[in-house]
Amino acid sequence: MFAKRTNWNLAPNRLSAALAAHRAAGKPLLDLTVSNPTECGFEYDRSAILNVLSNPAALSYEPDPRGLESARRAVAGYYARRKEEVSAEDIFLTTSTSEAYSYVFRTLCDPGDEVLIPSPSYPLFDFLADIQDVSLVRYPLLYDHGWQIDFHALQQAITPRTRGVIVVHPNNPTGHFAKSAEITKLNSICSAREIALIADEVFLDFTLEENRPASFATNRGAPTFTLSGLSKISGLPQMKAAWLIAGGPPQWKSEALARLEVIADTYLSVNAPVQLAIPRFLEQRHAFQEQVIARVRRNLAEVDRQLAMQKTCSRMTVEGGWCAVLRVPATRSDEDLAIQLLTARGVSVHPGHFYEFPTDGYLVASLITPERTFAEGTGRLLSFF
Ligand SMILES: Cc1ncc(COP(=O)(O)O)c(C=O)c1O
Repeated sequence: MFAKRTNWNLAPNRLSAALAAHRAAGKPLLDLTVSNPTECGFEYDRSAILNVLSNPAALSYEPDPRGLESARRAVAGYYARRKEEVSAEDIFLTTSTSEAYSYVFRTLCDPGDEVLIPSPSYPLFDFLADIQDVSLVRYPLLYDHGWQIDFHALQQAITPRTRGVIVVHPNNPTGHFAKSAEITKLNSICSAREIALIADEVFLDFTLEENRPASFATNRGAPTFTLSGLSKISGLPQMKAAWLIAGGPPQWKSEALARLEVIADTYLSVNAPVQLAIPRFLEQRHAFQEQVIARVRRNLAEVDRQLAMQKTCSRMTVEGGWCAVLRVPATRSDEDLAIQLLTARGVSVHPGHFYEFPTDGYLVASLITPERTFAEGTGRLLSFF
């Protein structure tokens, strides 16, 4: 009676069952997996956020497939502040980057067509692809003095059914940005094979580097879709405001925009109060990002301080984003390890396989965890080895 694409194994995995039991028993928990910024003790300008949602202009309906022009201009302004010129005409507002992915997949892929994704990376891709009947093919990232794309493997992974290559910039959870030599190479591969680059830039602003990495929004070397939104930029995931930008060779771009317009017009999905609030929500990013970057730096300094006192575990390089990847002894499966850390130490971390790390021995901790929990949780975690 149901579509095969929904034949997911929905039974909770052993780790989520252990976590639910731990919580149900009321045991104390040091949760190093928190990624919801609204629950991490950051300060928001509550009245500015709430007041802007009661704009009387929301009482009239002005359907526009791309979204309200005032909101798109504000998004273009966000790029202009970064010295990157994006036209409001090339922007489509969506209710999330997840929805933006569905627009992109629907524009590019027939059922069974393939999209390349980095590995390790963000776990939601599997579901996004299943729902759109897209097949995901992973291309490995290599760690050698920092993360980099394995271009040999990426090229081997391309088949006649490949329609796009996803780049997460910076990647979640490895926290590395695509470097300019890599972008040049991606452009030459994608333009030669006539496939699109799909750049997920939700963490773009959260860099720990001196030089601010460029956005793919102004990339002209290959057909490019750039996705971002306010979930991370302004720490407002509940507002469901994101966008999609088409860029690249002019002829390709105008055709992509025309097709996207039909998809977007079919849904007209972003509600008026949120669209009207986007300019104000974007202004909130400065205060939010300052707090996040300060916390990420403090938590990284703390984990480094604790790692310096032992020899068993280490941390992988972080260039940006909200995660730290720890290398730990691979003496058991990382799921078993995460369960033991929970039961024996009351610490919750993500096992690496959650993000498709190729082997055991990796744990992922959220760097936006409030500092005291992060310090105590890290201490208990390291004391386990
Ligand atoms: C790489 C990446 N893309 C997209 C998202 C989700 O963004 P949105 O809330 O706009 O769908 C996340 C959320 O963690 C993410 O890590």
